[in-house]
Amino acid sequence: MTNKLQNDLLIRAAFSQQTERPPVWMMRQAGRFMKEYWEIKNKYSFLEMCKTPEIAADVTMLPVDLLGVDAAILFSDILVTPEAMGGILSFEDGVGPRFANPVRDRAGAEALQTDVLPKLQYVADAIKVIQQRLQGRIPLIGFAGAPFTVLSYLVEGGSSKDFKRTKLLLNNEPELAHLLLQKITDVTIAYLNMQIAAGVNAVQLFDSWAMALSWDDYQHFAHQYNTEIIAKIDRKDIPVISFCKGSSVFAPLMAEANPDVVSVDWNADLRQLKDRLPQGVAVQGNLDPFVLYADKRVIKTKITELFERMRGQPGFIFNLGHGIMPDIPFDHVKYAVEVVREFRY
Ligand code: CP3
Repeated sequence: MTNKLQNDLLIRAAFSQQTERPPVWMMRQAGRFMKEYWEIKNKYSFLEMCKTPEIAADVTMLPVDLLGVDAAILFSDILVTPEAMGGILSFEDGVGPRFANPVRDRAGAEALQTDVLPKLQYVADAIKVIQQRLQGRIPLIGFAGAPFTVLSYLVEGGSSKDFKRTKLLLNNEPELAHLLLQKITDVTIAYLNMQIAAGVNAVQLFDSWAMALSWDDYQHFAHQYNTEIIAKIDRKDIPVISFCKGSSVFAPLMAEANPDVVSVDWNADLRQLKDRLPQGVAVQGNLDPFVLYADKRVIKTKITELFERMRGQPGFIFNLGHGIMPDIPFDHVKYAVEVVREFRY
C-alpha cells in the first residue's frame, strides 16, 4: 500500500527520512468546525455516522478535499472498542460520551467481552471504502484509544475533569484495574491489526488523559500496556504514532515503548524534546490549537517559529498539540494548512 502512495510525506517523516517540507494533518480535522460536517451530522447520530461505512468515508474525506491535508484520519471514535466490549454508549449534544453501565466492580469487569472483532467489522468496511476514494493520494491513519484513557471513560461513565473514580480504582483496587487494562489491551491489539489488514497506512494510539497520572502510575497503568500494544501490532511498513496529553513529561517513557513517532502537546519546546529522544524517533505537533482562533498573521508567525526551531530535523510532522475546537473558524484552519504547504526546508 505505502509504496503506491502519491504523497507519502507523512510516512517518510514518520520514519525520520528527509522531506522537502513537514507533512500536515490535524487531530479532529473531520469535525464540527466544518459546515459540511454539520450537513451530515444534522441527518444522523454520531454513532450512526461511525457505523455506516459510506458516511464515515464521506466525513473522512471532508478535510482531504476542503483543506488539502497530507493525511486522512479514519472517522470513528476511541470509544467504539469499549462499546463493542459491552459498554452502553451514547453521545449527546453538549454532554459528550456517556456509558449507561459504568464499570465499577469485579462483576462489571468480568462481564466485558474481548472477542469483539465481528462487532467492529464496520470499521474495516469503512477503511476499504475510504481507500477506494483516496486512490493512493495520501495515507490513511487508523487509530485506537490507549487502555488507560479508554478505562477512564468506562469507569467514570463519561468525560471527567479530575478522574476521581478512575484514580480511586487504581489506588484501592489495582488488581481490578489491571484486569480491565489487560482486557482493553487485548482488544486494542486485535482491533489495530484488523485496521492494518483492512488497509490503513499508519496508526495512532490516543492516550488523551495520561496527564492525569503521576510518573509511577503512568508506568504501571499506561506505559506497560501501550508497550505491549506497540510490540504486538503487525507493523510491517506502517508507522506507529503515540499521542498523549502529558507528553511534555512522559515523552522519554513513550519513546521506550518503541513507536515511530511521539506526538507532543503544546507545553514542550519541540526541538529540545526531540533532542532528548533516541535517534530515529520522530515527533509530531505541537501548535497550541488556540492559536487558530487568532489573526492570520499570528497563525503564520507561530507556525513559522515552530518550523525555524525544527529546521534541519528529519522526523517532524506538523500537527496541533491536541484536537481542533469546534468553534475555530474554518478559514483559519485552511490558512494554517496553506502556510505549512508553502514552507520549504
Ligand atoms: O480526528 C479526527 O477528525 C478523526 C475522528 C476522531 C473523533 N474522535 C471524532 C469525534 C478521533 C480520532 C477521535 C478520538 C477521540 N474520541 C479521542 C482522542 C482524541 C482527543 O481528542 O483526545 C477522545 C478522548 C474521544 C472521546 C470523545 N468523542 C469525546 C470526549 C467526545 C465529545 C467531546 C467533543 O468534542 O464533542 C467525542 C465525540 C466526537 N468524536 C465528535 C467527533 C467528530 C463530536 C461528535 C459530534 O458531532 O457531536
